[in-house]
This record gives sequence, C-alpha cells and structure tokens, in this order.
Amino acid sequence: MAEYDWRDIVYGEPLPDLGGDPAGGYGHLRRPGPDLSHGVALYLDDISVTFDGFRALNKLSLSIDAGELRCVIGPNGAGKTTMMDVITGKTRPDSGTAFFGQTIDLLKLREPEIVAAGIGRKFQKPTVFEELSVQDNLELALKADKRARGTLFFRLSAGQRARVEEVLALVRLEDQAARRAGDLSHGQKQWLEIGMLLMLEPQLLLLDEPVAGMTDAETDRTAELFVSLAGRHTLMVVEHDMEFVRKIADKVTVLHEGSLLAEGSLEQVQADERVVEVYLGR
Ligand SMILES: Nc1ncnc2c1ncn2[C@@H]1O[C@H](COP(=O)(O)OP(=O)(O)OP(=O)(O)O)[C@@H](O)[C@H]1O
Ligand SMILES: [Mg+2]
Repeated sequence: MAEYDWRDIVYGEPLPDLGGDPAGGYGHLRRPGPDLSHGVALYLDDISVTFDGFRALNKLSLSIDAGELRCVIGPNGAGKTTMMDVITGKTRPDSGTAFFGQTIDLLKLREPEIVAAGIGRKFQKPTVFEELSVQDNLELALKADKRARGTLFFRLSAGQRARVEEVLALVRLEDQAARRAGDLSHGQKQWLEIGMLLMLEPQLLLLDEPVAGMTDAETDRTAELFVSLAGRHTLMVVEHDMEFVRKIADKVTVLHEGSLLAEGSLEQVQADERVVEVYLGR
C-alpha cells in the first residue's frame, strides 16, 4: 500500500476555510477548532474496519482527554495504523462513531477538512523538502493555510515569523535554521517534519512510530519534545520502542486484533496477564 504523504493534502489543495476569525492567535491560522469543553479531544466508539472480510478494527472504543500524551502499543497487525487512518479520514469504518472534541464528526469530513480542523499526522518516513533550508520548510508549512496562499512569495506577518522562531526552538533546530534539510540527520528530519506539523497548530497530533531509526540520543530528545508538547496539544503516539514509551508514558492503551485489550499506566498494562500473553504467546 503506498504510503500517503500529508503534504499531498495540504499542498495538493488549499485547506478549506471552515470560517472563524482570521485575526487572533498567531494570525495565520484561525479556525473553529474542536470544542474541548468536556475535556475530551478524541472519542472513538465501536469502530469496525474490514478489509476483504478481515477485521482490522473490531468494535474499537477509545477516548483521549485534551492535553493528554497517550501511548498506543500492540503487536504487529493489531490495528494501530488503521486506527490513525480512520481518525484522519483515509479509511472509512464500516460502523462506529469518531468525534474530535464534542462537535466535530470525523466520519463526515474529508481528509483535508480533518487537517484543517486541527489534526496533524506524522508518518514514519520523514517527508521534508530536502533542497530547502530548515527555515524555508517551516515557512512553507504555513502555505497550507488558504489565506496565506494568495501569492507564492507571501510575506510573513510578525506573528508568523515569531511562530517560526518558536517552532525552531521547540524542535531544537534553532542553530540549523539555514541548513539544507537534506543534510540533516534522520532524527533532525523527523523533528523538522514535526515542526512543520506544529506550524499548523494542530490540537491533536498523531505520531506513528516516531523514533524508529533514531539514535538513542535522538530518541531521548524526542521524548523530551513530546512531553513538552503535551498539555498545549493532545498527542497519540504509536511506538514499539518500550524504552521510549517508558520515558513518555502517562496512560497506555494496548490494542490487539483490532480491539482495546488493556488501558492504564505502563506498569498496570505490563502486569496484565492478557497483555503478557499477546506479546509472549505468539
Ligand atoms: N489497506 C489494507 N488492505 C488490506 N489489509 C489491510 C490494509 N491495511 C491494513 N490491513 C491489515 O489490517 C491489519 C492491521 O494493520 P495495521 O497496519 O493497522 O496494524 P499495526 O498495528 O499498525 O501494525 P504494525 O505494528 O506492524 O505497524 C493487518 O493485518 C494488516 O495487514
Ligand atoms: Mg502500523
């Protein structure tokens, strides 16, 4: 299956303008984001997905609080990536409910609308523009916003420039701003892509195996980054690297055969016999 690139969405067609006040915030993106008044950022209920008779997701129900850093683990084929495909509109479930905040029905939106509503997704492979500088990559991410797309060489507002600086610092690439993205290390490219997602100020960030291929030092820095992003953003992190999960974990969800098997602290789920069985009994 061809891996799909989030840039296809954001650059392939302008993000739809969902209304809202174009002023405010950093001044470049204003949309009626999710209603988080009940404290829930993502709510999945009874989601089933079938591929040629095979149930990749089987009545999956899951809820993530706003500002949470949720780790999702589970053996290969458990349905973790398929769950992200459902949340981002890439795959339509056969049945079930998926809400972003209280009011945004994800199953009624198309992929670019879901991006515009504030859900950013990071795929495993870094997809930065190799020939451009780090800074230009971040500025380009702003062009996903319809209002900023008017001209090819649109001028950044003071707020947008401040956001570029802020994101450079967040992803620890301040001293790499002028560097060609293609010359970055694998880990730095991953951080740059996360930075590009952050330019769009997503409320919910989905990260599928973000530290695969990173050095230990890069993995540690990524753990610090994710912990620092939680609170202001909601993060759902799928990862097989249990050392990494241990560093960032608050609440952990275990998927197995398309369903929720266990949920709780890492210690709790690791002590759960059913979890031990699916990891060891294969
Ligand atoms: N487009 C598709 N067509 C057919 N089968 C699919 C498709 N996408 C996923 N599957 C199957 O659904 C199941 C769940 O796959 P998924 O990629 O969601 O698992 P995962 O938990 O992300 O696994 P991994 O840890 O290996 O990434 C697998 O058996 C997979 O082969
Ligand atoms: Mg996967």
